Amino acid sequence: MTATDERPPADLEAQFDATIAADRRIEPRDWMPEAYRKTLIRQIAQHAHSEIIGMQPEGNWLLRAPSLRRKAILLAKVQDEAGHGMYLYAAAETLGVDREELTEKLIDAKQKYSSIFNYPTLSWADIGVIGWLVDGAAIANQVPLCRCSYGPYARAMIRICKEESFHQRQGYESLLALVNGTDAQREMVQESVDRWWWPSLMMFGPADGDSPNTRQSMAWGIKRHTNDELRQRFVDMSVPQARTLGVTLPDPALRWNDERQAHDFGEPDWSEFQAVISGAGPANQQRLAHRRRAHENGAWVREAARAYADKREARA
Ligand SMILES: [Fe+2]
Ligand SMILES: [Fe+2]
Repeated sequence: MTATDERPPADLEAQFDATIAADRRIEPRDWMPEAYRKTLIRQIAQHAHSEIIGMQPEGNWLLRAPSLRRKAILLAKVQDEAGHGMYLYAAAETLGVDREELTEKLIDAKQKYSSIFNYPTLSWADIGVIGWLVDGAAIANQVPLCRCSYGPYARAMIRICKEESFHQRQGYESLLALVNGTDAQREMVQESVDRWWWPSLMMFGPADGDSPNTRQSMAWGIKRHTNDELRQRFVDMSVPQARTLGVTLPDPALRWNDERQAHDFGEPDWSEFQAVISGAGPANQQRLAHRRRAHENGAWVREAARAYADKREARA
């Protein structure tokens, strides 16, 4: 037993509060309220699952990339996403859960992942648009998480954000090539933007009034900005980028508001968002079935790794 464990809980709680108030990091061995631990496990697991499921829509185009260069870039990106999943599962494990257990929850649909990955990738332009808008929204969401109060999560995010910014640039660069191509290529980009714009806005989660956990998460220093603040930041960032690409964002209400020094924009279809996060999106069934199958097909690898570890331990 360490000296910290012997102190009465009131003291530990005061120490936790002081750490948060001073904007220092909580580390795995520090005492933390059970609700803080549970919130983090839920959020980090959901984030890890999103990275892993997010490999599927893009993996769909690996064999159909239009050139060797594009294929190599896409392959590297999909592998990065697998790596992000691994860092995040490792961060979740510091909170006392097991990766195996989290994977079971994902494939039993007991834990969620980002709604965006339940939309299908129908054209090559979708790969560019995902890099631009989906990785762009992920960056807007994740940069503030680099200052999250939980040390292992914050540190994982620093590394992830560096790679995400490469993802966004490669998407944008691929779109620039398409919009400088033929009319058919420009139309393909516009059609893709029309499908991905609203789901990308939904990535920030429900409107602040419908996001009951936000206040507590902000008080704990897990979240630094509300969903609506981040959504606004993303819209303001995307408008000039869309202009450079020569594409129209499919929102008739979108316009600059001089008074607010920000863009006004329309309301996402929240009933669609609710349907997609509760399992009724266009690709939910397919995504989970694929992940389940991959998990089952990997059983022999886990068994072999376990047998090898047992053997080594016996020898030692
Ligand atoms: Fe990622
Ligand atoms: Fe990414």
